[in-house]
Amino acid sequence: MALVSVSILNGDLARLAEVAQTIEAAQADMLHFDVMDGMFVDNISFGLPVLSCLKPLVQLPLDVHLMIEEPLRFAERFAEAGADLLSFHIESRSDAAETLREIHSFGIPAGIAVSPETPEDTVFPLLEQMQPEDFILMMTVRPGLGGQQFMAEVLPKIQRLRSRIAKLQIPLHVEVDGGINAETGLLCRKAGADYLVAGSYVLGAKDPAGAVRSLTAPF
Ligand code: DX5
Ligand code: ZN
Repeated sequence: MALVSVSILNGDLARLAEVAQTIEAAQADMLHFDVMDGMFVDNISFGLPVLSCLKPLVQLPLDVHLMIEEPLRFAERFAEAGADLLSFHIESRSDAAETLREIHSFGIPAGIAVSPETPEDTVFPLLEQMQPEDFILMMTVRPGLGGQQFMAEVLPKIQRLRSRIAKLQIPLHVEVDGGINAETGLLCRKAGADYLVAGSYVLGAKDPAGAVRSLTAPF
């Protein structure tokens, strides 16, 4: 079973409340909130005040993806602003083990995000420190923009990560993010992903609920 997290990045941000309603009405499982600081990636999206405004409008868990240089410095404020899951990049400047401990101290699941060029084994030493419901977020596009093309070369990395997790017998989730649609989502599920992030595929669809359903169709 895969869960679907819909990214608001390419939504009409002047109508954020309506975008959130669309995502809830489409029966998504989570709302994906992409934070960019213009340093870690070459783009600036939105941050703490927007998350605080969004929080009371949605029942869905807020899946916050930090594409920022210093996640350790900001983790507490994102947890306070309403993040229900909080991921940060292994390539950021913060110490990953410390950032994991910090996020765990707020009682929410932590995710480690891995950019396409980064080998999956960079997270292996951290897996044993992860807790049930934590997750690894495998980027299937270069972080920074919505609406990019899926990078199929990431699939073997997902497979290798999934078999490593199985060996360790830790119930971790594997999330994929970038260029996900029914077809690429299926490839990722077959490779071992159980959380699918989809932005433009769902919000650009005439029938967002149908798009969400298509991501979880049995295979
Ligand atoms: C990319 C973001 C993704 C992106 C997904 O930097 O992390 O979450 O918005 O959007 P689509 O599904 O359009 O690739
Ligand atoms: Zn994302």
